[in-house]
Amino acid sequence: MNASSPRSPNRRLILSRSAALVGASSVGLLLPQIVRAQSNKVRVGFMLPYTGTFAQLGVAIENGVRMAIAEKGGKLGGREIEWYKVDDESEPSKGVENASKLVQRDKVDVLIGTVHSGVQMGIQRVVRDAGVLSIIPNAGVHAATRALCAPNVFRTSFTNGQPSQALGKPMMDKGLKRTVWISWKYAAGDESLEGFKEGYLKAGGTIIKELSLPFPNVEFQALLTEIASLKPDAVACFFAGAGAAKFMKDYAAAGLKERIPLYGSGFLTEGVIEAAGPAAEGVYTTLHYADSLDIPRNKQFRSAYASQFKLQPDVYAVQGYDSGQLLLQGMAAVKGDMSNKAALYKALETTVIDSPRGKWAMSKAHNPVQDIYLRVVEKGDNKVLGVAAKALADSGVGCKL
Ligand code: PHB
Repeated sequence: MNASSPRSPNRRLILSRSAALVGASSVGLLLPQIVRAQSNKVRVGFMLPYTGTFAQLGVAIENGVRMAIAEKGGKLGGREIEWYKVDDESEPSKGVENASKLVQRDKVDVLIGTVHSGVQMGIQRVVRDAGVLSIIPNAGVHAATRALCAPNVFRTSFTNGQPSQALGKPMMDKGLKRTVWISWKYAAGDESLEGFKEGYLKAGGTIIKELSLPFPNVEFQALLTEIASLKPDAVACFFAGAGAAKFMKDYAAAGLKERIPLYGSGFLTEGVIEAAGPAAEGVYTTLHYADSLDIPRNKQFRSAYASQFKLQPDVYAVQGYDSGQLLLQGMAAVKGDMSNKAALYKALETTVIDSPRGKWAMSKAHNPVQDIYLRVVEKGDNKVLGVAAKALADSGVGCKL
């Protein structure tokens, strides 16, 4: 899908006006002005999943970005915005092609995307080559802010290892010493496991089995049977979006919920609590956000989002909102002049984001340094129990910025 509809009416506008102004333009007066006014708009491109298991994540991110910018008058550094959209379908094999549509064809000034780590690798290639400003509003693939970091790439979300790293201590505090890990087999699952190991093994836990299935499969039955026979103290996982709701439902339906506590990287319960129903109650997770965070900024954000979109916000909406805030602040610092790249990147690097998740700043490698909260689902909400890791930074190893 390409919903870059704003473009064609504008083109038509230029053509019809230019026809009427042939006389004026032939003496070199009005047409150049019109063209300049036109190109003065900031081109912002969304590359997000609008279909598939992560569809609602893409929508929440776009809502968040638009809401942040609308709250400040709908402009960036005084310039109006022209929006572009590509549905990346969470399909890694189309990552480069889809990113090129925005960068090469639509000539966006900034690309905001995406959710899926595999697709992000395609974006990373394209924006590093082109030097186009890019904001990652979710995908946690480590390389984007480690070995493949770039001066023009900024992440407002997390690295895959950040949330899961914080699971270990609370699990061991409850005496859960033998755990089965389960996730989709792709970068986000693998790197969440890497983070989990860092925290859980260090705290003295043992992972007795690592289970996986290909993304975005949701045929969990055989794996749940295996878990039942392994009889671990706990299960820890990475799943997200519609697949996460299905996992929690199947886990409960298999009779495991009462016997083996379920833990997860916090995406497990983001945006899907209603869909999972009672199966989500009592699930423990760690994440850089929680619905019930007692921060005025969070309360104000949640009520504004709910009234605007008739939806409850989740971590994806927050990450979108912070992407919008980051862009607003960077563009304000250079008064909309994106050709002043050094000043623009400096502003993006040094700004502190007043987020619904709590204030956070960028690491040197351009990834948030942020608190990770321990949460439990209670009465349909991600209730915060405390800070599981304070000001947690990704290692950024291999990044030369
Ligand atoms: C990812 O692929 O990096 C990813 C996707 C969904 C999430 C978190 C991470 O909720």
